[in-house]
Amino acid sequence: MAATIESVLSEKRVFPPSPEFVKQANVSGMAAYQALCDEAERDFEGFWGRLAKEHLHWSKPFNRVLDEANPPFFKWFHDGELNASYNCLDRHLASQPDKTAIIFEADDGKVTKITYKELHREVCRLANALKALGIQRGDRVLIYMPMSIQVVVAMQACARIAATHSVVFGGFSAKSVQERIIDAGAVAVITADGQFRGGREIPLKPVVDEAIGMGGCDAMRKVIVYKRSGSSVPMTAGRDLWWDEAVKGQGDTCDPVWVSAEHPLFILYTSGSTGKPKGVQHSTGGYLLGCILTMKWVFDNKPTDIFWCTADVGWVTGHSYIVYGPLACGTTVVMFEGVPTYPDAGRFWKMIQAHKVNVFYTAPTAIRSLIKAGPEEPKKYDLSSVRILGTVGEPINPEAWMWYHTTVGRERCPIVDTWWQTETGVIMITPLPGAIPTKPGSATLPLPGIMADIVDETGNSVGKGKGGLLVIKRPWPAMLRTIWGDPERYKKTYFPDDFKGKLYLAGDGASIDEDGYFRIVGRIDDVLNVSGHRLGTMEVESALVANSKLVAEAAVVGRPDELTGEAIVAFVVTKGPRPTGEEAKKVAQELRDWVAKEIGAIAKPKDIRFGENLPKTRSGKIMRRLLRSIARGEEITQDVTTLENPAILEQLKQSQ
Ligand code: PRX
Repeated sequence: MAATIESVLSEKRVFPPSPEFVKQANVSGMAAYQALCDEAERDFEGFWGRLAKEHLHWSKPFNRVLDEANPPFFKWFHDGELNASYNCLDRHLASQPDKTAIIFEADDGKVTKITYKELHREVCRLANALKALGIQRGDRVLIYMPMSIQVVVAMQACARIAATHSVVFGGFSAKSVQERIIDAGAVAVITADGQFRGGREIPLKPVVDEAIGMGGCDAMRKVIVYKRSGSSVPMTAGRDLWWDEAVKGQGDTCDPVWVSAEHPLFILYTSGSTGKPKGVQHSTGGYLLGCILTMKWVFDNKPTDIFWCTADVGWVTGHSYIVYGPLACGTTVVMFEGVPTYPDAGRFWKMIQAHKVNVFYTAPTAIRSLIKAGPEEPKKYDLSSVRILGTVGEPINPEAWMWYHTTVGRERCPIVDTWWQTETGVIMITPLPGAIPTKPGSATLPLPGIMADIVDETGNSVGKGKGGLLVIKRPWPAMLRTIWGDPERYKKTYFPDDFKGKLYLAGDGASIDEDGYFRIVGRIDDVLNVSGHRLGTMEVESALVANSKLVAEAAVVGRPDELTGEAIVAFVVTKGPRPTGEEAKKVAQELRDWVAKEIGAIAKPKDIRFGENLPKTRSGKIMRRLLRSIARGEEITQDVTTLENPAILEQLKQSQ
């Protein structure tokens, strides 16, 4: 960590927002930002209560802002009632029925637009269809869909009838889908026949069939299939029905089901440091408030904005900044089915030009791959509509930041480097574009009301210029409420006893520079960040070991990668003799395909190495630090005299 801290301290480039930007900003200037922070410090509950009243439509107003009776199970606004879909759709109907809600661009370039009025109608029709199928308040519905207007309709329809949705990224395997259906106790799946990405069709419904066919999905009753690709898919009578059939004859309106602010709006699975993904459970009121505030503060949301977040809706970024945040603000949002490099590396820039995008939010990994594929591409397009650029998902290296700033932003647009997590629900640490001067590679300062700090192992603040653990010292409205079905794990993971259960432990290492700016270094637990996708090393290990025919033992570590941030390196002991030469290449490929089947293609190890054994301590613990050094090709400085068989180190240095 020391080297990274040094590089922050030596980062002297500072970019203050232009006076013109400051003048028009929702939070205009440092004093305005500070005033909000001071208000939150002075009267924490008053601050959040005021904002919740101002920004949300409540069918029943709340009396209580924060209930801390049973920490860390905090409740926000819980005696108030509202509906997320009403807040995203109905409340815009009188003022802007014909405003475009979504501009959808398909993989092949076809553009479809839908207005707020039309979206409301589609959501009501599907909500009525779900009710007709017996789906009720509190039921869980799994959504496994392509980027499409329909995935938004599906999420909103669930929210409308108070069913809790769980969206699973379309790249996950049947096994992952099955695990999530079982864990959530889902009663229905909404899916599509297939999806298109980069000119290729990827099946979805067959994956759902395989998942359910694996067994254990006891609560599962219905599968609704949206026709996207037109490929023929088998339909199971009595269980499966086409979307069009389901909504046929359904009414255009559907009364929203009002719920307590604490009602679980969604569950989203994410990787942790064990083999089992965690169902992160979010609330309705606090979550939605966080979405709206961050749209207004961080993205400086204006009524005329065209907003484009390139994330997939299967990740939290898509939930908060494609679906709930933009719609609750009545914004026009761009949605894209494809990939940034198809048909060429100019796709993003061409889309910004075509749709006159004002706010563009993407991931450092996309930026790095576009720099590699076409550093001059942005210059071919008119990007003058862009006001703000954003990044999320992983640390952005200063070189990529500078390219984004000069080549895409033309040195005009503030860059908001936003730090947050599936668990935090919404953005937590980031520059406010009209207030906080930016520095390449720094997420800068916490949002008003977010009490972030960096502490040492004993929970004491480390102070400026030092590294430590990133923590949040007070609850915040959009925070996760628990891990679905596992409150103990929630407590242990995020509010560990080491800190007397009082601090939210983010799992990231960070440092603060002399200006109080935060720089997030990366995970301190066994979680990897590959192309902005979160993956547990244990998850990949469990997947490898599940191949009982080939694998006797496996250990997985991360190593820095220029393009993907981190890359997965797997050390494997096979059941038979250690494979070498061509055989080793063949087995490595087989294992990669196996992991893709177990988890999804995103979890495929980049590098697989075979050894007759793994390096272990005398007590039998795998020496992961040593494996990390080997994966990085570093000189081994650790004491290896205790190793039973030092020769394996030589074996493990060979990549396949
Ligand atoms: O390590 C941090 C990294 O991504 C993790 C959260 O991943 P996930 O829950 O998948 O959510 C990603 C999108 C919100 C964090 O613990 N991370 C996210 N944003 C940043 C970041 N690291 C550095 N800088 C960021 N801006």
